[in-house]
Amino acid sequence: MSENKPAAIYLKDYRVPDFLIDRTELVFDLDDSVTVVTSKLHMRRNPSAGRITTPLVLDGGEDVKLIGVAIDNYTLPAEEYHINAEHQLVITATPDQFLLTVETVIEPQNNTRLEGLYRSSGMFCTQCEAEGFRHITYYLDRPDVMSIFTTTLIADGEKYPTLLSNGNEVERGVSDEGKTIVTWHDPHPKPAYLFALVAGNLQHISDTFTTSSGRDVTLKIFTEPHNIDKVDYAMGALKRSMKWDEDVYGREYDLDIFMIVAVDDFNMGAMENKGLNIFNSSCLLARPDTTTDDAYLRIEAIVAHEYFHNWSGNRVTCRDWFQLSLKEGFTVFRDQSFSEDLHSETVKRVEDVSFLRTAQFAEDAGPMAHPIRPASYIEISNFYTLTVYEKGSEVVRMIHTLLGAEGFRKGSDLYFSRHDGQAVTCDDFVKAMEDANGVDLTQFKRWYSQAGTPRVQVTDEYDEQAQTYTLNFSQMTPATPGQPTKLPVVIPVKMGLIGQDGSSLRFNLAGETTTETVITLTQGEESVVFEQVAERPVPSLLRGFSAPVKLSYDYTTEQLALLLAHDSDGFNRWNSGQQIAVNELQALIAQVQSGESLNQESALVSGFSQLLADEQLDSAMVALILTLPSVAYLSELAEQIDPQAIKTARDHLKGQIAKALSESFASTYERLNVQEAYQPNEAQIARRALKNVALSYWVASGDEQAQQALVNQFRNADNMTDQYAALATAVDQDLEVADELLASFYEQWQQESLVVNKWLTLSASQTSAEGLGRIERLMQHPSFDLKNPNKLRAVFAGLTQNVTLFHDASGAGYRFLADQIAVLDKRNPQIASRLCTPLTRWRKMVPSLSDPMKSALQQLAAGDLSKDVYEVVSKSLAD
Ligand code: TRP
Ligand code: ZN
Repeated sequence: MSENKPAAIYLKDYRVPDFLIDRTELVFDLDDSVTVVTSKLHMRRNPSAGRITTPLVLDGGEDVKLIGVAIDNYTLPAEEYHINAEHQLVITATPDQFLLTVETVIEPQNNTRLEGLYRSSGMFCTQCEAEGFRHITYYLDRPDVMSIFTTTLIADGEKYPTLLSNGNEVERGVSDEGKTIVTWHDPHPKPAYLFALVAGNLQHISDTFTTSSGRDVTLKIFTEPHNIDKVDYAMGALKRSMKWDEDVYGREYDLDIFMIVAVDDFNMGAMENKGLNIFNSSCLLARPDTTTDDAYLRIEAIVAHEYFHNWSGNRVTCRDWFQLSLKEGFTVFRDQSFSEDLHSETVKRVEDVSFLRTAQFAEDAGPMAHPIRPASYIEISNFYTLTVYEKGSEVVRMIHTLLGAEGFRKGSDLYFSRHDGQAVTCDDFVKAMEDANGVDLTQFKRWYSQAGTPRVQVTDEYDEQAQTYTLNFSQMTPATPGQPTKLPVVIPVKMGLIGQDGSSLRFNLAGETTTETVITLTQGEESVVFEQVAERPVPSLLRGFSAPVKLSYDYTTEQLALLLAHDSDGFNRWNSGQQIAVNELQALIAQVQSGESLNQESALVSGFSQLLADEQLDSAMVALILTLPSVAYLSELAEQIDPQAIKTARDHLKGQIAKALSESFASTYERLNVQEAYQPNEAQIARRALKNVALSYWVASGDEQAQQALVNQFRNADNMTDQYAALATAVDQDLEVADELLASFYEQWQQESLVVNKWLTLSASQTSAEGLGRIERLMQHPSFDLKNPNKLRAVFAGLTQNVTLFHDASGAGYRFLADQIAVLDKRNPQIASRLCTPLTRWRKMVPSLSDPMKSALQQLAAGDLSKDVYEVVSKSLAD
C-alpha cells in the first residue's frame, strides 16, 4: 500500500464553515483543448464560526491549474497564497467581506474520473456530488455552504448549440470572436454539489406541467439526436412524479423550467442537480424493442427519485456528508412509495425487499458495514451505499409505520417548512417527526448509529384453556467493525394470526379486538400476550417486511404452505414460499457438499402446481413466487459460501420442479403467449413476467418443444422483454443454441449501445471452455469502451455472476478482477472501488476459496491505490 495512508474524516470533528459564499458567478469558456473558468465569489466571514483570523482555505484538485487570484480586484502576488498538499488554495489574510476572483484552467477531455467537468460522446457535462466541484475550480466544496449561482457559458455555437445550467436562462449573446454566450441564473441558494452545466449538440422534447397553484412549468428532456425517439416514457414519468409529490407530500416545483439530460458516460444512475438533472442514459432512454419491462419501471422510479430530491435534498439539504441518508434514505422511501402507489404495492415491496436482503444485508455483514449515518469515512464516494440508500429508506419507512400516514405527513410538513433553505442533519429530520407528533424517538435513533442487521428470534405458546397466545421475542444485533456491542433497537413488527383453515383469526390485545396489529419491540427480550384466541394459530410475522431485520420462527413446512396459500398479507405469502425454498435448498447444498445423492422430493411441487392452475391469481405475484431464491441471496444466508454447491443445488431443485410440472409450465406459457401491441402497463408486464418464468422452467424440464418455443420467441418478439428473456434462458440453461442466439442478438443490436450492454453481460456470464480468455476478448471487442462505466459494469457483472469462471478454485478469476481493478483505478477510482465488492466477501467463502480471494486483495493492496480503493481494500483486510 502507498506510504501516505489516507486519513479518515470524523463526524465528531464537524465545525461550521469559517467563510460563507453569498453569490457565485462563474464563466466557462469551453473549448476542445482547454476550458477557462473564471469564478467570482462574494464572500464573508461566517459570524457563527466565531473565528476571526483563520486563513481562507478553498478545496481544489490536482487537475485544476490556477492562473490567478484577486481579492476585491487586487491581484494577489505569489507570496500571499499557496497550494497545499491536499490541493487546497490557502489565502492567509482576507478582509471580513470581499470579492474573490479565481481563474483556473481545466482539461475536461482528459477527465477520465467522470467527476467535475468532463466530456461524454462529444458533449460537456458535469458531475459534482459529492466532491466533484473542486475539480472545476477552487471553492468551499461542502454542502453547508449554500450560494446563489449565476453561470455564463461561452462556446462555439455550431458545435455546441445547447448550453445549459441551473435555473433560468437570463441572457444570450455573441462574443467578439463569434462564440455563443448564454447566462443562467438560479435564484435558490444551493451547495456546489448541485451545480451542473451541459454543452452539446442535443435534441430535446418539450412539455408543460401546471402546478397545483396554477404555475406552468416547462419540461425538457435532452439527448443526442439518435436517441430522441427514446425519451417520451421518461417525460410521462416526470409528470406523474410532479403530480404525486403534490398529492402525497404537498410539494410543488419551484422554478419555471425543469430539464433532464441523458449522458452515456456516468458513474452512477442519475443526479438531482437543481433544475437540470443529469441521467445515465441507461436510466432514462426507453423504447419497446430495446428496453425491458424491468428497465421501464426502473426508469420511472429514477426519474421520480431525482425529481423528489428537489425538496428532499435540494430545498432542504445535508449539513455534511455523514448526513447523506437524510436525503437519500428519505428520497428512496419516497420513490418506493410512488411506485407502490402507481403499480402493485405487493410486487414492488417484494422486489425492494429481495434486493435489500440480498445485497444490503451482505454489506451489513461484511468489512464495510456502517450505520446509515456513518461516523467516519476515508472517501465519501464509497458511502453511496445500499446501507445509506436502501436501509436508510427502511428506517424512514419504520417511522412511517410507527406514526401512521397522517402523522408522518405532519412530520414531513414540519421538516420542510422548518428547514427550507437550510443544510441540516438526520437529527433535525427525526426531531421534526417527534415535534409534529408529540412522540419520543430517542431509542429509535439507534438505527442511525448502529450498523449490522438485527436478528429477532420468536417462540410461542398457546393456552387452550385460557385462550391466550403468547409470542416471546428476543433481539440481538451482531458485532460489526468498530462496534463490538449493540443496544436493543425499536422494531415494529406488523403481524396477524392465521387459523388452521387459513382464515385471519381475531384476537384481543390491550383491550382492542382486531385481526392485525403492529407490535413495537424495544427490549432484548419481551413477550406479548394475545387474548381470546380461539385456536392455536400460525403467526404471520413482520408483514410487509415492517423492519429490516432477520426474523426467525421455527415454522414447519405445512405451516409455511398454509401461509403461502392463505395469508392476507401478500408479502408474507411470497415470503413463506421463499422460506420453503430456502429450507429445501439449504438441505440440498449440504447434500452436494457431502457428496450424498440429492433429495428428489420438493414440497414446492404441489404448491406451484396449485398456483399454475389458478388463472385468477395475479400473474406478477405468481411469477415472483415461482422464482427460486437467487445464488446471491443463498450466499448471504450461508455461514460459509460455496458458490458451486449453491448453484448445483439451485439448478437441481429448479430442474426437479420443472420436470414434475412440465405440462403445467407449457400450458401456462401457451396461455400467456398472446400477440398484443407492447405497452409497459401493469397487466402486460405481469403476463410477460409469468410467461417468461414459465418458459424458463419449461426449458429446464428438457422438453424439446420448449427449446423450439424459446427460439421462436427470440426470433419473433417485437419487444425486448420477450427477446431478452428467451436469450437469457438459453444462456442460463446452457442450451446449444445459445451461441447462435447471442451472435444474432449482437448482429441485430450493435448500433444500440444499451442493448449491447446486455449482450456483454450475458456473454461474460456464459459457461464456456474459453475461460477468462472470453472476458479478455469481450474487453477487446469493438463495442467495449474502457471509459464507459456501463460497459465495465456490464462485463464485470457477467464475470462475477459466472460461478464456474469467477469462483474457479485456482483463484484465477479473483486475480483477474484484482488486476483489472488496479488498472482501472488509475482512470476512474469510483468505478474501480465499486468493482471490489465481490472480493470483500473473502472471510465468508469456504476455505478453499477464501485464501485465493484474500490473496487477490493483498495483491491489490501492494499497489499504489486511490483513496477510494484503498479504503475498501484496507478495511477488507483489517483484522
Ligand atoms: N445523488 C445521486 C442520487 O440521486 C447519486 C450520486 C451521488 C451520483 N454521487 C454521484 C451520481 C456521483 C453520479 C455520480 O442518488
Ligand atoms: Zn438520490
